[in-house]
Amino acid sequence: MAPGCPQRSLLRRLHVTRARRMTAVTSPARVAATASPVSDPAQPLPHQETKVQLSIDRVSKRFGGVTAVEDVSIDVPHGGILSIIGPNGAGKTSLLNMISGFYTPDNGRITLEGRDITRRRPHQVAALGIARTFQNIALFSGLTVLDNLMLGRHVRMRSGVLRSVIYWGLAQREEIAHREVCEELIDFLKLQDLRKQPTGALAYGLRKRVELGRALALEPRIILLDEPMGGMNQDEKEDMARYILDVNQERGITVVLIEHDMGVVMDISDRVIVLDRGRKIAEGSPAEVQRSPAVIAAYLGAKKGKQSP
Ligand SMILES: Nc1ncnc2c1ncn2[C@@H]1O[C@H](COP(=O)(O)OP(=O)(O)O)[C@@H](O)[C@H]1O
Ligand SMILES: [Mg+2]
Repeated sequence: MAPGCPQRSLLRRLHVTRARRMTAVTSPARVAATASPVSDPAQPLPHQETKVQLSIDRVSKRFGGVTAVEDVSIDVPHGGILSIIGPNGAGKTSLLNMISGFYTPDNGRITLEGRDITRRRPHQVAALGIARTFQNIALFSGLTVLDNLMLGRHVRMRSGVLRSVIYWGLAQREEIAHREVCEELIDFLKLQDLRKQPTGALAYGLRKRVELGRALALEPRIILLDEPMGGMNQDEKEDMARYILDVNQERGITVVLIEHDMGVVMDISDRVIVLDRGRKIAEGSPAEVQRSPAVIAAYLGAKKGKQSP
């Protein structure tokens, strides 16, 4: 890669972010805060960061003659950014679909904080604290930014239609509380001026940002992001990378990221998993994975077959 090319400059800027991130993790203030016995439950304790939060154990999924995912095991530790990479058709989205309950695995087991979620429905998985975004934007384009975020809270809403009629005041109070969560997210994602805009009218990068907001509105403990930077220009990618780092660092949310931009993946991930033709072929730190002969071969093979990595 030539020095001075856009990818390089993104990397340089993100290295600064990562350096800040390390400082934030080890700063005396943070250590003191996390050492407190009454610490914020949204912030994982240091000892939890090494414990497994989400466990995928020997999971497979077939579609007719196609094996999308074959015998894949992944342990997602608390509080980090874990990236899943691999050529097109490697099974990345299928894996995310199984975690979030859109597909049921043919074999294997998925557990969240020790609880079996293998056969849960998507809304049940969401209610347990796993939110996701989609490879192709899935927003209601006729609804405003704020309303899309409010919809993201549906599994947290207790008042159904009947309850709302009988207990109007209660439903109103609940709506105000939900609105506050969404307004805070709108500030966090710098969408203040766009809150009343229909999402269909927004530029692509902004719609992706709203989708991140809709997932965050669930107040998840884990967020699954399926190519959140796909189709973005370099500036939009940089913005999104910063939001992902902030989601992880400031909100203590574990991130599972599928992304094709290797610069971003290598820069912001704590751990990288590589899939190829449904199988896990490598796992390790970004540096370890980059050196892996199996990974290099998989990507070279994909290029020869004219698939994009
Ligand atoms: N719902 C489905 N029906 C049939 N085949 C599917 C379905 N979902 C995924 N596949 C197939 O599974 C394989 C893996 O796809 P996918 O998980 O989307 O890969 P990736 O996200 O890594 O590009 C592909 O061959 C794809 O065509
Ligand atoms: Mg995919």
